[in-house]
Amino acid sequence: MATRPDRLSIGIDAIALSVPRGFVDLGELAEAHGVAPSKYLSGLGTRRMAIAAPDEDPVTLGVNAARRLFQRSGASPADIGLCVVGTETAVDHAKPVAAFLHGLLGLPSACRVFEAKHACFGGTAGLLNAVEWIASGSARGRAALVVCTDIARYALGSPGEPTQGAGAVALLIRERPRLMELEVGRTGSYARDVHDFWRPIHHKNALVDGHFSVQCYLDALAGAYREWRRIAEDGEPLARTCYHVPYGKMARKAHRHRRMIDGLSEQAADESFAVEVEPSLSLPAQVGNIYTGSLYLALASLFQAQADALAGLRVGLFSYGSGCCAEFFAGVVLPEAAPLVRHLDIDGPVRDCRRMSVPEYEALRAEDATADRRPAPDAPPPAQRGTEGRAVYLGIDASERRVYANE
Ligand code: CAA
Repeated sequence: MATRPDRLSIGIDAIALSVPRGFVDLGELAEAHGVAPSKYLSGLGTRRMAIAAPDEDPVTLGVNAARRLFQRSGASPADIGLCVVGTETAVDHAKPVAAFLHGLLGLPSACRVFEAKHACFGGTAGLLNAVEWIASGSARGRAALVVCTDIARYALGSPGEPTQGAGAVALLIRERPRLMELEVGRTGSYARDVHDFWRPIHHKNALVDGHFSVQCYLDALAGAYREWRRIAEDGEPLARTCYHVPYGKMARKAHRHRRMIDGLSEQAADESFAVEVEPSLSLPAQVGNIYTGSLYLALASLFQAQADALAGLRVGLFSYGSGCCAEFFAGVVLPEAAPLVRHLDIDGPVRDCRRMSVPEYEALRAEDATADRRPAPDAPPPAQRGTEGRAVYLGIDASERRVYANE
């Protein structure tokens, strides 16, 4: 589908990731749990899960993704007029993660800054809000910074444990983007009040009704996709589709479900998976579930694998947030994407992530329980603002304010 000059051209201009320093190999975790490794590796379709250390939190992951975005894209904090953080693992009930980012990145004071929460849908809520902010004229030439940042934690030994992960995706949204033009105003939504996955405010670990959550996801996909088809059926067929990926197998189930709605047999739907979905699953398999960022990690994988081949083609995007709200929408990959993707070096942080043993991971999880209350050093270094360095969390001060510095 060619870009038409008479239409609003708004979308994703650049993308960057950040992940914690360490990951756990799921084959090793399975062996430690006395589970057949094939259950995690092929039954769930996961390979690794990134694990945050006590000095890594959703703020540091988000800041580090945004710093990489500025360093690699050529954009500057001065360009930003809207900063939205989607997260379901915020660090404060009142002060938004976006306010920490605003300070640590040195964004302009003339900037709308807020956090969006709706389980894994919060990042998409931020993205669509940013697109509509630009379409409304409020942006006045400025760009939006949308950051999806989360640490997925379930109880040790629970069925959810092998589907953990941690990381952030930063997206630069602006007019005349270079990576993907989004189809403004053409989204299919679905919502329903369900208890498939939740985290009461006194819990650090998520609670989940696992098999019910899978069914809720599929029902939401069907609802959002049918609505999208009604609105956007005049477009070109979708060359690829990126799904919310809590674990790889979920994307496989989702794709089968969606393509059978299109009228394909189960076999034909499954056969289309290798071409239409698989290229988007490499980074999710290496990082695990990053909740709000999971769909955009899949999109980052797709850019990395196939930006050249996809120029001018339409890609479907499905976002699911438990609770639940879902949205199906689409965009067109732009010709400038391929050279820019090479320059962005999207998976650089994932290549730098180091394997930790299962006992090391379990020790980190034990420390995790008290990280939010750990006292910061008495005279911490002043927080460094701007786009350089790697942010770390030091602890809380005497008034329980979180303290950050550069590593
Ligand atoms: N070799 C190969 N495959 C094996 C196997 C083996 N030895 N043993 C089991 N399997 C297969 C099973 O057949 C099953 O495959 P299918 O789904 O195709 O039937 C798969 O491995 C998983 O096995 P189980 O269903 O027995 O696994 P489980 O009960 O231990 O837990 C889960 C699975 C419910 C997904 C659990 O991991 C969980 O609760 N995860 C967190 C919730 C989640 O991610 N939900 C997804 C939808 S909600 C959402 O998307 C929001 C979000 O981000 C959380």
